[in-house]
Amino acid sequence: MIIPKIAIIGGGNMASSLVTGLCHAGCNPKNIGASDPNRYKLTRLHRKFGIHTSLDNMTVTKESQIIVFAVKPQHLREAAKSIAVFIKKQLPLILSIVAGVRTQTIQKVLGLKTGAIVRSMPNTPALIGQGMTALYATRAVSVQQKRLAEAIMQSVGCTAWIKDEALLDVVTAISGSGPAYFLGLMEALEAVAIELGLHSPMAHTLVVQTALGSATLALKTKKKLSHLRAQVTSKGGTTEAAFKVLNAARTKEIIQKAVRAAFLRSKQLGLVEE
Ligand SMILES: NC(=O)c1ccc[n+]([C@@H]2O[C@H](COP(=O)([O-])OP(=O)(O)OC[C@H]3O[C@@H](n4cnc5c(N)ncnc54)[C@H](OP(=O)(O)O)[C@@H]3O)[C@@H](O)[C@H]2O)c1
Repeated sequence: MIIPKIAIIGGGNMASSLVTGLCHAGCNPKNIGASDPNRYKLTRLHRKFGIHTSLDNMTVTKESQIIVFAVKPQHLREAAKSIAVFIKKQLPLILSIVAGVRTQTIQKVLGLKTGAIVRSMPNTPALIGQGMTALYATRAVSVQQKRLAEAIMQSVGCTAWIKDEALLDVVTAISGSGPAYFLGLMEALEAVAIELGLHSPMAHTLVVQTALGSATLALKTKKKLSHLRAQVTSKGGTTEAAFKVLNAARTKEIIQKAVRAAFLRSKQLGLVEE
């Protein structure tokens, strides 16, 4: 898909992975611009990809049909205000990857009654092109603009649309925070592997490859997770011994309680940003 001129406001980690993804997807670097207050980050982006960069948000925004907000939530107001005049006049597609800031808040900050805004929630594996991003579009977003937003986020992984913006709080608690849940489990496995006698690099490889293999198995076979787990859990065997301990400690319920806490926190943070 041909991506028209795109301006990324904020030249940090996510901007860098988006530029990498877009360039790999065949997007012309000359059609990509990025702005950031940090000259060093801009020079790096320019040298690596040949994209247009500026310390001034308005300079990169000019003539862009898509504006991507890639700043931290606390910087969104300032960033949006700096280009509000252009947005009000040209009505480009706005794609926000800013965690927790609702489309209504973005509209309010920009002084828009309605606006073509797509809000998305990627996760950290996007940094290596393996992200999972959920997207939500306001009513003013056209079918073509939805395709564009999807293509941009697909350059750093998989995407899925949601119809109700409130569900982004669930997405945040599952796939947004999700990498930390899996990595936390992997940390625990790695530590016990070392305690039981494996040397550190071996423990690390076993854990990481097992996580990757399990996720790939679930993805490729499309079998139910419970079925795949049962396949490893033979009666009287080692996995059953482990699950007896996990079940006695009500591990499943504790994990679900933790995810509910993340969901509630996401809702609270969204209210603070309004
Ligand atoms: N990293 C992820 O995997 C991930 C996942 C989900 C969502 N997100 C969301 O994506 C957004 C960006 O995350 P990130 O990890 O890329 O953050 P980051 O590395 O801190 O990048 C943000 C950049 O924006 C710059 N900035 C601050 N104010 C600005 C302004 N007014 N105009 C232009 N640029 C400005 C910052 O400069 P200074 O450093 O000088 O302030 C920084 O370089 C966040 O809202 C985050 O919640 C990230």
